[in-house]
Amino acid sequence: MKVLVVGSGGREHALVWKISQSSPVEKIYAAPGNGGMKEAERVPISAHEIVSLADFAAENDVDLTVVGPELPLALGIVDEFQKRGLRIFGPSKPAAELEASKVFAKEFMSRHGIPTAEFDVVTDFASGREILDSGKYGYPVVIKADGLAGGKGSLVCSDREEALRALDLLINKRVFGTAGDRVIIEKFLPGREISFTVITDGKNIVPIVTSKDYKRAYDGDRGPNTGGMGAVSPCPYVDANLYVKIMDSIVRPTIRGMLEEGREFRGVLYAGLMLTEEGPMVLEFNVRFGDPETQAIMLRLRSDLVEVLASVAEGLIPEKKLEWDREVSLDVVLASGGYPGKYEKGKEIKGLEDVPSDVVVFHAGTEYRDGKFYTAGGRVLNVAAKGKDLEEARSKVYSAIERIHFEGMHYRKDIGVFQ
Ligand code: AMP
Ligand code: GLY
Repeated sequence: MKVLVVGSGGREHALVWKISQSSPVEKIYAAPGNGGMKEAERVPISAHEIVSLADFAAENDVDLTVVGPELPLALGIVDEFQKRGLRIFGPSKPAAELEASKVFAKEFMSRHGIPTAEFDVVTDFASGREILDSGKYGYPVVIKADGLAGGKGSLVCSDREEALRALDLLINKRVFGTAGDRVIIEKFLPGREISFTVITDGKNIVPIVTSKDYKRAYDGDRGPNTGGMGAVSPCPYVDANLYVKIMDSIVRPTIRGMLEEGREFRGVLYAGLMLTEEGPMVLEFNVRFGDPETQAIMLRLRSDLVEVLASVAEGLIPEKKLEWDREVSLDVVLASGGYPGKYEKGKEIKGLEDVPSDVVVFHAGTEYRDGKFYTAGGRVLNVAAKGKDLEEARSKVYSAIERIHFEGMHYRKDIGVFQ
């Protein structure tokens, strides 16, 4: 069996790594992949070039394509593949709207009684200011671009001045282009944040273990938002009761609602949730695996991933549930100096050969040249390990990190610490 993985980050390396352990798989392609994906052959096609990717899959008899990032899904990669009879795992373009349009997602949640923060949608600055000044939301308030903005489109604003600046950036200055054609003003929800992920064939659900990512750049949840600086699985905030509540009040109504609206959702449904005093509420939906949550999750997966993804791609519920390790897993992102702002590339990475064998390094922004690895992105490496408890997993990961070095390298020291 030949499998194509679309994307180039740490999430995709974790998928490639897990897929390579599947016995029917004899060949893995990664488009465009990264320098550290030794399990795969790299294909020089970008993740957004959906027609070229379909051509490649057809010409090379790829049996299954697995899509990592949201952009190709939003562009309709699944529809393009299915039109040509090619098997692909992920939601169709109409289903991917759940992530591609935050306005669609919010209005969908209103229609189906799925708990989320109160909100308004505005298209011009003056109406936005009027809503802020009505006092309906108070401060802090959250302002979000409707469309995809590389994870940077949601701004938590602590006062009126910041909120007006956010409206100005999105609506007048169009910093995210047409993604800011419509803007959401949303009530700020205090609470603990978690990631909740399932695999679904559109009707049935394959549960995935819980996880939590750490979004802020610096220790103690300070500094700017990033794509995620580390993750743990399971998430200790989610007990069995809460798990059932999230499934019943959020996940099932979402999957059912999408089916009712003619947008059958097949793939990974990832809900970013805030655990509030009134119960779990949705901050956003993603229509793909989380990054860096996937790196922690794949370490704990015992079952064959390909079998499940292939049957879901055909709209069939897999015969077997996934089996998971009871151990705790953890991954820490090593980032380039300056990330999530401006950073330099091309720094030599040293010490990877000294990482012990019970620690897995998933590559993200790396290049391989003449026997050496160099940095090539903001999030460079994910150092991951399992342990009988968080302390053991933390100590394996952090002692391995001490062996790795590149100029400007920074990382959070508190991944897996829960207050
Ligand atoms: P989103 O892109 O909607 O996931 O938002 C990015 C980040 O902003 C989230 O991970 C939260 O940390 C924060 N956020 C978004 N919406 C809210 C909200 N309504 N209340 C509090 N924090 C929020
Ligand atoms: N870790 C956040 C995300 O994948 O969107």
